[in-house]
Amino acid sequence: MSNPLRIAVAGLGTVGAGTISILQRHRDMIAQRAGRDVTIVAASARDLTKKRDIDLSGIDIVNDAVSLATRSDVDVVVEVIGGHEGAAKTLVESALRAGKHVVTANKALIAHHGVMLAKLSEIHGVTLAFEAAVAGGIPVIAALRSGLAANRIEKISGILNGTCNYILSRMYHEQLEQGVVMADAAKLGYLEADPSLDIDGIDAAHKIAILASLAFGTQVDVAGVKATGIRSITLRDVRYADAFGYRIKLLGVAEFHDGTLIQSVHPALVAKALPLASVDSSFNAVQIEGDSVGRVMFEGRGAGAGPTGSAVVADIIALARGDRYPAFTVPTASLIASSAGDVHAQRACFYLRLSLKDEPGVLAEFTRVFAEEDISVRAITQRDIAEDASAQVVVLTHVTTSGQIARAHQKIAGLAVCVAPPVLMQMEG
Ligand code: NAP
Ligand code: HSE
Repeated sequence: MSNPLRIAVAGLGTVGAGTISILQRHRDMIAQRAGRDVTIVAASARDLTKKRDIDLSGIDIVNDAVSLATRSDVDVVVEVIGGHEGAAKTLVESALRAGKHVVTANKALIAHHGVMLAKLSEIHGVTLAFEAAVAGGIPVIAALRSGLAANRIEKISGILNGTCNYILSRMYHEQLEQGVVMADAAKLGYLEADPSLDIDGIDAAHKIAILASLAFGTQVDVAGVKATGIRSITLRDVRYADAFGYRIKLLGVAEFHDGTLIQSVHPALVAKALPLASVDSSFNAVQIEGDSVGRVMFEGRGAGAGPTGSAVVADIIALARGDRYPAFTVPTASLIASSAGDVHAQRACFYLRLSLKDEPGVLAEFTRVFAEEDISVRAITQRDIAEDASAQVVVLTHVTTSGQIARAHQKIAGLAVCVAPPVLMQMEG
């Protein structure tokens, strides 16, 4: 066997602990698969006094994460700190400049600085790997890089945030409001350090931007993702969707046609008959449409110590074996600068829940807006009266454009009879 591959792990939180625990538990199996031992030499955390549920004996634990980048006894730096600026960015840049391979689970860092870091890795002849950054334990990046490499891909979509899927699933199965479930997601280690990244769709935006780059060979364009999260979704919406035969899911979607890239993250009503509708709890699912293979769907746990550690360790094993590849599957110089497509031109059916004053003439006011925007209504129903005495009206539209419904949404929100912001969601299937 060759020399051991020497690892430093920056971050001893959920993912750092998961990674170390797998490397320790499967030490012999990993050595066999990698063709050499993988040794954890050093690790870092902010608080050296914190009690950790992992065995750190024999590992040099330091407080200064960035110092791991230049250690002569380290071949690979694993960055599992988080955040797209600060210590994580400084560490990864320093490690690449020092000629160390880097493995990271940090989608925010890769979405914002991935191309710059990939260029650095090319200059210094090392590998930047980030399988764990997208869809937790699902090896979707490896699939795009190798298993599906023969395909021209035009669309990639799926459930990319474990926290939101966990919350929406428990709201549905246990009839709970969003806020009640949030604390459990935190306990399970699913949440980002700033939970608004999960709830407001930003984490899923990071992931779809990374996937789009890998799938289409385009520059990562996180600013081009139109992101809406699940903050406005209530138990009432979950129940109404159920009554119409749908589940609510937070979807990330990217499409690339003729040099134009359209990327979005949005909560959607997914028909119960579609496979995505039954992807529950912290599971993620990614659907890829290739011109030769057709549609492929991957499903697995998208968050937590075990699934994310599994993806981090997979990257480490590949490095130990000597696999080397460009971070975005093609050299950074070949990545295309795409133009952002018009999200408003996209066509779909929509769900709109309105909280209206319970008085005569109210329905006429908002149906006038639909007529002005040339939107045809497929179904309309007054469901019940809310705690604030508003009438809850749900409208399902026929196919219309996102632009038309967005204008209608804005106009209705401005009506005096509308007592709370309307909830708008696209429908799938
Ligand atoms: P976490 O539990 O909050 O752990 C972060 C670790 O980094 C902690 O050990 C912390 O030290 C250390 N740290 C935080 N800020 C630091 C700083 N400024 N300088 C040095 N060290 C610092 O986070 P996590 O859930 O493991 O997530 C880590 C990364 O993996 C993030 O990029 C996240 O987006 C990504 N990720 C997470 C999951 C998941 O399910 N959790 C899944 C996929 C990807 P202390 O322990 O002393 O506080
Ligand atoms: N907060 C992220 C999620 C962690 O819930 O999906 C996994 O990337």
